[in-house]
Amino acid sequence: MAVDIAELERQARSLLAPEVYDYYAGGSGSERTLRASVSAWQQHWLMPRVLRDVSTVDTSVRLPGLPGTVARTPIAIAPTGFQGLAHAEGEVATARGAARAGALMVLSTRSSSKIEDVAGTVAREGGAWWFQVYVMRDRTLTARLVERAVAAGARALVLTGDTPVVGRKRRDRTEGVVSDAELLANIGPLADMSLTGQATDVTFADIGWLAGLSGLPVLVKGVLRADDARACMAAGAAGVIVSNHGGRQLDRAVPTALALPPVAAELGDPATVFADGGLRTGADVLAALGLGARAVFLGRPVLWALACGGADGVRDLLTAMTSDLAYEMALAGAPDLASLAGVTRTPGSA
Ligand code: FNR
Repeated sequence: MAVDIAELERQARSLLAPEVYDYYAGGSGSERTLRASVSAWQQHWLMPRVLRDVSTVDTSVRLPGLPGTVARTPIAIAPTGFQGLAHAEGEVATARGAARAGALMVLSTRSSSKIEDVAGTVAREGGAWWFQVYVMRDRTLTARLVERAVAAGARALVLTGDTPVVGRKRRDRTEGVVSDAELLANIGPLADMSLTGQATDVTFADIGWLAGLSGLPVLVKGVLRADDARACMAAGAAGVIVSNHGGRQLDRAVPTALALPPVAAELGDPATVFADGGLRTGADVLAALGLGARAVFLGRPVLWALACGGADGVRDLLTAMTSDLAYEMALAGAPDLASLAGVTRTPGSA
């Protein structure tokens, strides 16, 4: 049976406090982007190849900062904040589940678990993680977090570029729900909380700043335009993640299913293109990879799995979605991820 994310979400909803469910599920503004993000993948069709040897199907992938093919799946975990609201073990449980599924995890700046605790878990399990960076108003706080992530073994940084201010969400009632311990898990007590707010003056130059500070590859998350993707690469990025933040930033921002093809065409190098947003089935993932993404990230589905089953839930979700992907790769005549190039066809495009 294929993974049923809608059912997983229903189960999670019955377990979570309503305000936590709404914080996770909600989007900004009228939620137009949120609603379109899932359905937009449906407009792509697949063009399977026949008479290919698919007696083995290999889903392993090379990712920036990771030696060889440490990742056994191109389905990775997007950074989402405050996972302690979904499960007592928070990001530590997510990290264990991801590593056991052979999947990469991206840890949010706004995690409920400490960077070092997540890193220790990943190291014990033999996995890999990247660290997501929100540049805070106090750049020395940001730099300290990055230095800690590097010391703890992060393999790359993900600079979130779409959040100069936080999107307004009607459904968000988390004030008082997110504890100080969670808000400040990675920062510690602060006299002035405004220092942790988003810096509004982040530019392409900060890609170089973070690369110099960390010595790690830097990917930029939240890119929706081909010209921005080009500018990120020119500024030294190792890749871009085509993302609209799961419909939580600019409402009416384009669904990633539509933004991905022009970005992939502009960069022309599948090693540098990634995507997230609204991916709910193996076939969605296949479509994204066929459009030129090297790997994809899941946000909310991981939160639902974490709420329902902790580390095992996360492992089972990633394993089952990867198995759905492998099955569909076989049907598409693709024994490995490189063979997916050109498998996705969008009516009306050249
Ligand atoms: C997010 N996202 C996010 N992104 C980021 O760069 N840093 C963060 O801390 C967060 N936090 C966060 C919290 C919650 C509750 C959600 C739902 C999302 C965005 C996330 O990384 C990703 O872009 C989307 O979630 C992908 O869309 P789907 O898979 O949720 O549809």
